[in-house]
Amino acid sequence: MKKVDVILGAFFGDEGKGKIIDYLSTKADISLRCAGGNNAGHTIVINGQKFAMHLIPSGIFSGAVAIIGNGVVVDPKVLLEEIKTLNDAGISTDKLLISEKAHVIFPYHKEYDELEEEMRGKNKIGTTKRGIGPSYSDKMARTGIRMEDFISSKFSALLKNNIENKNKIFALYGKDQIDYKAVLKEYSAYAKALKPYVTDTVNFVHDNLEKGKKVVCEGAQATLLDIDFGTYPFVTSSNTTIGGILNGTSLNAGNIGEVYGVIKAYSSRVGEGPYVTELKDKIGDTIRELGHEYGTTTKRPRRCGWLDLVALKYAARVNGFTGIAMNHLDTVGKLSEIKLCVGYEDENGVVTENYTTNPDKLKNMKPVYETFEGNFDISGIKKYSKLPAQAKTYVKAIEKFVGVPVKFIGTGPDREDLIIR
Ligand code: GDP
Ligand code: IMO
Ligand code: MG
Repeated sequence: MKKVDVILGAFFGDEGKGKIIDYLSTKADISLRCAGGNNAGHTIVINGQKFAMHLIPSGIFSGAVAIIGNGVVVDPKVLLEEIKTLNDAGISTDKLLISEKAHVIFPYHKEYDELEEEMRGKNKIGTTKRGIGPSYSDKMARTGIRMEDFISSKFSALLKNNIENKNKIFALYGKDQIDYKAVLKEYSAYAKALKPYVTDTVNFVHDNLEKGKKVVCEGAQATLLDIDFGTYPFVTSSNTTIGGILNGTSLNAGNIGEVYGVIKAYSSRVGEGPYVTELKDKIGDTIRELGHEYGTTTKRPRRCGWLDLVALKYAARVNGFTGIAMNHLDTVGKLSEIKLCVGYEDENGVVTENYTTNPDKLKNMKPVYETFEGNFDISGIKKYSKLPAQAKTYVKAIEKFVGVPVKFIGTGPDREDLIIR
C-alpha cells in the first residue's frame, strides 16, 4: 500500500498548499517538508486564527509528527521564532524533528543574496532575500554547514573558515564584514536550542512507513519556480517538483501514492519573471484585493492573472498529478466573468498547448482564453453537488483540459472551507 501523499504547488507558489496539508495531516501520522526555506509562507486559518508558517510543516496543527527534511535550508533564528509563536498559541512542538542533513542559513547567506540581486541589476530575480540561493549554492559547493555539524564541536571551525572566505568577497564589493565572534556567539545559542530536535529523519521515516504509518509530504514554492523545470533564471534554488520530494526526504518512488497539485482558481506570482496570463489592468487589481494577494513572507503585492491551463498541463506532466486541489473558487465567483487560458499564441500566430520555460519565448506568447460565467457565491458549501452550475462548469473545463480530477475545492481561507470529492 502506498503510504505517502504529496502536495505540490503547480504554478508560482502561494496556491494555498498550507491549507491542503493541514487537512491531509489530520489523516496522517507524519507531515514532512522537503525543500525550500523561509522563502515559503504557508497560511493556515483555524477558526479565524491565522498562522503563517515558513519552516515548520503545516501538519503540526493536527498533531502529526512534523519533520523538516534534509532538502530544507533552515534559518535557525526564524525557526526558533516560529516554535515560540506556536507554543504561545498553545500548539505543541514536541513532535517536531529536524533532519541532521538539513543545511543552515547564516547571515552571510542573506548578505550575499542581497549582493547578488544588486549585481543582477535590471535582470534581478526579485528573491525573498532570505539567503536561500546562496545557502543552496554552498550546499552544492560542499561548504555548507549541516544541522549535524551545527550542533557539534566542529561548528566553530567550520563557521570561521566560511566567514573568512565570504569576507574576502564582501571586501571586494565594499560590503560590511561579518563579525565571526558575534555570529558564533549568537548561533551557538541557536544550535543549543535546536539540538533536541535534530535527528536521523531518514531511518525514522522508513521505520514508520514499515510500521504502516501514513505520511504526507509538503512541497514548498511551486513547479514554475523549480530550478530545472521553472522559468529559469526566475526561479528558486531548489527542486520544487516531485524529484525534490524524493531528494529532500529520502522517500523512494515506490513510496509515493497520491500527488496533489495545488492551484488557485486564478493565478499569482511574486517577484520577477515571465507570466503569460498576468493582468496588468483593473481586473488584476480586483483579484488582488478580493483574494488578499499580498505576500505571506515579504508582504509584496502579488501579480495576479487568470488560471493558465497550458502551464497546469505542464505541471501535471512533470509531477504526475493524480489530483488537483483548487483554492479560491469563492474569489473568482465574485467576478462577473472568468477566463481560462487554453493555449499560447506565438508571434507567428501558431497556437500551442505545450508550455515552454524559456523566458524570451514566454514574453512573446499571447494567451488564448475561454470565457466562463462568474457571479456565484459558494461560501459555506460543503458538497460538490451543491455548487452552482457556473462553478461546476468551470471545474469541469479544468478537468477536461488537464485530464486530472479536481479532488479538493477551497471555498474560503479557513480549514473548514473545503469541499472534498
Ligand atoms: P501557500 O504558500 O501555497 O501555502 O499559500 P499562501 O498561504 O502563501 O497563500 C494562500 C492564501 O490564500 C492565504 O492567504 C490563504 O489563507 C488563502 N486561501 C487558501 N485557500 C483559500 C480559498 O479557498 N479561498 C480564499 N478566499 N482564500 C484561501
Ligand atoms: P510558497 O511556499 C511565492 C519566489 C520569489 C522570487 C523567486 C526566488 O509560499 O509558495 P528565493 O528567495 O527563493 O531565491 O526567490 O521565488 N518565491 C516564492 N514565491 N511563494 C513562495 O513560496 C516562494 N518562494 C520563493 O518571490 O521570485
Ligand atoms: Mg506562500
